[in-house]
Amino acid sequence: MDPRFWLVIAFFTSWIRARKVDGQCHTTEYSVKGMYLRGHTFKNVQVGLHESCYFKCTEEVTCQSYNFVIGQNICELNNRTKEARPEDFLPDKTRYYMRRLTNRVSLGSIPQLPAESCSEIIASEGGAVEFKKYWIHSDGKNGSIEAYCEGGWQKVNGKDPVCFGTKGNMYGSINITKTGHLRTMKLIHKNGSLHCNSETSPSFWGCTFASYGKNCQQL
Ligand SMILES: *[C@@H]1O[C@H](CO)[C@@H](O)[C@H](O)[C@H]1NC(C)=O
Ligand SMILES: *[C@@H]1O[C@H](CO)[C@@H](O)[C@H](O)[C@H]1NC(C)=O
Ligand SMILES: *[C@@H]1O[C@H](CO)[C@@H](O)[C@H](O)[C@H]1NC(C)=O
Ligand SMILES: *[C@@H]1O[C@H](CO)[C@@H](O)[C@H](O)[C@H]1NC(C)=O
Repeated sequence: MDPRFWLVIAFFTSWIRARKVDGQCHTTEYSVKGMYLRGHTFKNVQVGLHESCYFKCTEEVTCQSYNFVIGQNICELNNRTKEARPEDFLPDKTRYYMRRLTNRVSLGSIPQLPAESCSEIIASEGGAVEFKKYWIHSDGKNGSIEAYCEGGWQKVNGKDPVCFGTKGNMYGSINITKTGHLRTMKLIHKNGSLHCNSETSPSFWGCTFASYGKNCQQL
């Protein structure tokens, strides 16, 4: 008998015990019967024992979870978890879903596993993400780039600030490293201010304009 099989049994038994002790069924998961993750399979593997899928998954650095096709004994190795893509987690009586529990690399932490966006990293890894560089899908030829994530926001200008001035049409410029639809954009004031004329008080972004009201400015 494959020694890894016993390892898997020991592993699952200890998991069941751990679950009984803390009694929190929702924090640890085993497998989800009758459900699968659609559209993120990068490899199909035929196996004898369904437990072998777990090892097939751990052999691939990008494997985040897998679907097992009951009856056909096929492991569908996924490069996403159901947490990252809840909309693709769907019912299917012939399959079950299992998340990788050991040595799973976090989404966006390696170039082979770029995230779609910073918010996908938050969804996948659950909660706050560190302010650091992640691999983010960028479309274009290079596929992915390293970009800073701060919460769900992707910084498009890296670490350096964007400078603009009022004199001589000195606008600031940034290169958007992502194609597709831009949902929203946030500017963060770092330092400095500008005057549009001698009467108005200094502002961060531009001139106040009477018809926009007090809270809006013309950029
Ligand atoms: C993830 O798998 C899908 C196929 O389901 C593939 O199109 C995509 O390129 C893969 N992404 C990575 C980062 O390997
Ligand atoms: C793509 O990668 C090459 C080499 O790493 C780099 O010189 C080039 O600027 C990149 N292009 C984009 C659009 O990021
Ligand atoms: C944007 O890209 C252009 C062409 O690659 C480059 O000349 C320019 O310096 C870039 N600007 C910034 C702000 O990175
Ligand atoms: C504003 O910040 C930039 C970059 O950090 C710095 O070079 C510049 O001196 C600062 N200006 C003021 C007025 O503090």
